[in-house]
This record gives sequence, structure tokens and C-alpha cells, in this order.
Amino acid sequence: MAPIAQQLNAQQVTAQQSTPSPVPPASAVSLTGLTRSFGARTVLDGIDLEFPPGQFVALLGHSGSGKSTLLRAVAGLDHDTVGTGELATPERVSVVFQDSRLLPWRRVLDNVLLGAPGREADGRDPAERARAALAEVGLAGRENAWPGELSGGEQQRAALARALVREPELLLADEPFGALDALTRIRMHTLLRELWQRHHPSVLLVTHDVDEAVALADRVLVLDHGRLAVDLGVDLPHPRVYRDPQLGEHRERLLAALGVRPDGGPAGAGPQED
Ligand SMILES: Nc1ncnc2c1ncn2[C@@H]1O[C@H](COP(=O)(O)OP(=O)(O)OP(=O)(O)O)[C@@H](O)[C@H]1O
Ligand SMILES: [Mg+2]
Repeated sequence: MAPIAQQLNAQQVTAQQSTPSPVPPASAVSLTGLTRSFGARTVLDGIDLEFPPGQFVALLGHSGSGKSTLLRAVAGLDHDTVGTGELATPERVSVVFQDSRLLPWRRVLDNVLLGAPGREADGRDPAERARAALAEVGLAGRENAWPGELSGGEQQRAALARALVREPELLLADEPFGALDALTRIRMHTLLRELWQRHHPSVLLVTHDVDEAVALADRVLVLDHGRLAVDLGVDLPHPRVYRDPQLGEHRERLLAALGVRPDGGPAGAGPQED
């Protein structure tokens, strides 16, 4: 089987969008037949996925279902992915992980600078750009701090700044809030949604948290046995209210797809005795 080819670049996306045409706009991400095996075990089994520029997509699935494997493939970090089809992504892609991956020997500003485009891109000073990105995530004044001097939530903010400073067309996030406490996580949800509204990148957010998925995303996918078992549109206004009955319906459908009852028990189990 042929290696997956990265075929679509940002120039093509721009050109296609600016030309009036009955053809739908170019996809931000387009996968066809994406397959990945480790030894005899097939983790991704011919996945087809397409989403348009600017869509916020969440990817749910059990631990070990292949979420990170899919994200790594989309990020172009997995050179052993094979498929019968194609992988098309924009040119500017940023990735955020569960741990911030800040370099401990570089100050916060210098870490963000690592993600910044050079001055030749548009004449803008990279340091000024990095400072602006830090201000956007609420870290103005912490430019000279060492990563070890930041809290976990602040480190993730710095990681977001480093990802956003290059103004990605596609932001890939692998459980970026998984290690944060519940309150910090809710604040990060608000921040991420605000940043998305301002910059409008396409987003693929991997999470194991159904509430996080329905709070943030416009579309939620469930990966199961190597396939996308659910593809659910969540067309509700933001900020979303936890008690919204429609949100509750989406939550229940996703929990059922994951084999969990809304009360936390396994789907199909009888009533609790206690
Ligand atoms: N480099 C590797 N070598 C062998 N097996 C691997 C490798 N990377 C991933 N796997 C296997 O592929 C499966 C999917 O892994 P993956 O990390 O994508 O799961 P995940 O859905 O992200 O899980 P989690 O929610 O725990 O992060 C797992 O069974 C894992 O053991
Ligand atoms: Mg993972």
C-alpha cells in the first residue's frame, strides 16, 4: 500500500475559496481509507473523514481506541500510516498535547517564539507576535518566567500560545486539559472557545470527556474498533449551558455509544441494587 500523501497546501485552499464556484470549499482535513496497524493489531481500519475549514471537531473513544494514533497521523507525525487513499491537511498545523512540552531551559517568551514565524513571513517582529499570543492566553507579564515557575494551567496556556502564534489553519489537540483540575479545565474551555472564535482554525480535539466534547465542539466523533462509529453534529449556541436538555440528549447518545449509562454504570447493566 502506498504511503499517505499530504497533498493540499494553504495556497490551494485560499485559491479555491476566493474563486466563485458551485464546488464546495476545500476541506481543512480530508482522510480516505486511513489505516494503521501495530503488528497484527489494526488500530485504524480504513477511516474516512472530512471536515471543512473552521469546524471544531471533538474525537471521543475509549482508552486505546486509537485517538492519539489518528491525531498523530493527521499531524503528519506518523510515517508508518498506510492507506488506500489520501490525507489532505492545510499547510499551517499546530499540535497541543496533554503535557505542555515547554522547554524547561527556555523562558516562556522564548518557548512561544519557537512556534512563531520569522519576520520574513509578513514583516512582523516575531517577539512582538509572541508577546501578543501570551497576552491572548492571559499570560502578559509572565514572558520572562521559566516554565517550572508556571502552574499546570498556565503551562497549558503557554503551550496554546506557542500553537496559536503561527496562526494555524488546523489546531490538533490531544487531551490538552486532561491533567488539569476541574475548575481550571472549565476556564481553559472558555479560553479555547474564545481563541477559536477570534482565529477560526479548524480544530480536532481528542478527549475522553463527553462533557468537554459537547461543551466545545460543533461535531463529535466516536472512534470504536478502528472506525468512526458516531458522527454527531452539535448545533447549539455558545456558551453552552450544562442543563440544556438538547445538550443532555447529545451527551446521552455519546455515552451510550461509549457503552456507559448517564449515571456512570455500564450500558446494558440492570438497575443498581444499593
Ligand atoms: N508505537 C506503538 N507501538 C505499538 N502499539 C502502539 C503504538 N502506539 C499505539 N499503540 C497501540 O495502539 C492502540 C491505540 O493507541 P492510542 O494511543 O492511539 O489510543 P488512545 O485512544 O489515544 O488512548 P488514550 O485515551 O489512553 O490516550 C493501543 O492499543 C496502543 O497500545
Ligand atoms: Mg491518547
